[in-house]
Amino acid sequence: MTALRSAAAAGPLAGDLAVPGDKSISHRALMLGSLAVGETVIEGLLEGEDVLRTAAAMRALGARVMQHACGRWQVQGVGVGALVEPDQVLDMGNAGTGARLLMGVVAAHPITAFFTGDASLVRRPMARVMNPLRQMGARFMARSGDRLPLGLAGAPTPLPITYRLPVASAQVKSAILLAGLNTAGRTTVVEPEPTRDHTELMLRHFGAEVAVEDGPDGRVVSLTGRPELTGRPVLVPGDPSSAAFPIVAALLVEGSDVLVRNVGLNPLRTGLLTTLHEMGAAISVENARTEAGEPVGDLRVRGTGPLAGITVPAARAPSMIDEYPVLACLAAAARGRTVMHGLGELRVKESDRLTAVAEGLASCGARVSVDGDTLTVEGDGRPPRGGGHILTRLDHRIAMAFLVLGLATRDAVTIDDDEAIGTSFPGFVDLLNGIGARIGTVDGEGSAGHGGTEGAITA
Ligand code: S3P
Repeated sequence: MTALRSAAAAGPLAGDLAVPGDKSISHRALMLGSLAVGETVIEGLLEGEDVLRTAAAMRALGARVMQHACGRWQVQGVGVGALVEPDQVLDMGNAGTGARLLMGVVAAHPITAFFTGDASLVRRPMARVMNPLRQMGARFMARSGDRLPLGLAGAPTPLPITYRLPVASAQVKSAILLAGLNTAGRTTVVEPEPTRDHTELMLRHFGAEVAVEDGPDGRVVSLTGRPELTGRPVLVPGDPSSAAFPIVAALLVEGSDVLVRNVGLNPLRTGLLTTLHEMGAAISVENARTEAGEPVGDLRVRGTGPLAGITVPAARAPSMIDEYPVLACLAAAARGRTVMHGLGELRVKESDRLTAVAEGLASCGARVSVDGDTLTVEGDGRPPRGGGHILTRLDHRIAMAFLVLGLATRDAVTIDDDEAIGTSFPGFVDLLNGIGARIGTVDGEGSAGHGGTEGAITA
């Protein structure tokens, strides 16, 4: 556990960088590669702690998963329905995506597995996946009803279901579809709000039949069960949720000119870019291309001065759900009020992000309020004074968002613990410092507690 401090950049940020591979796609590539027959070679896999936990879990379930070189991994799959019972508890660390998707995979195998995670993951609700998976025939025994650690007895004869998502969650959709793989018949998920479709795209890539259509209640995704999946090459693009940090950094520091290369631009992930354009940001897509079925491009970002506060509609939340902490930090330096609606899901992420963002911004002197599921940040066109000591709460995105804010504030911003950053963005500090950031350890100050009295939080 190391405290880090981010001090105002000495000048504009400049240069180009590539962020690590997409976390969502990396988890799915390891899982589907393990369920395919033959070899899957993955290029650009995110080697963050979350994904490494999934790699270990797939090994424990019988697949061969090997690292060949940096970012290049080989998976020898066992085929749909052929995973074996793990003889140890599957410790998914900090990874909600890894845990929930893997529960879907295991739920349709006649095996019993036990899942646990770190202090953040054991607090997160699992009923959202347990409910549909129970309907398919799986049985659970969970702490406090729906928390890890939990035991899961997969269904010997899983039943296909049609399930309407009560929350907009790609994790829940994906858990059901992955269970549907080893289920005879058609498994259907209806999602009122479209969420990231990496599972659907990758299932097709590996040879499954997935139909997607618009129905009266939303997007209807149906999978034909028991396909033969065949090992395929997978190219993982850079994670747009990680790219958000250097992008916002460049927008916060006037005069910056930064190229973020190889960013995944799946339209169900680009809500932040839409929002930043509406705020007046100068971001252009260069070298747009399609790689392994996913749109990819390089993003040139110029810091042209203060942006305008806007209202971000609730319907956009699924396409930028992980980007609100860093957007809120940017909004604190914008001119006027930024109102972000529909953020209830932020309360059940790696931390309660609504509280973490509101308290953190207030400790940096920003004007911020939370009203139900709406977060409002008011700026006057200049960064807040900074100086906050941020509790990261085992949440990588809280840690990185506030380190980015510190690049523009008068007083340095401190985070109490850098460890969570490695779950999704190994190398974050070096990459940011490489374009002109000044993020370093806190010498001689011990670990930072929560502090700051200026600014106001109203809840
Ligand atoms: C993810 C979906 C999102 C996101 C998470 C990754 C995925 O969660 O917050 O970081 O890979 O499916 P929800 O689907 O629960 O909103």
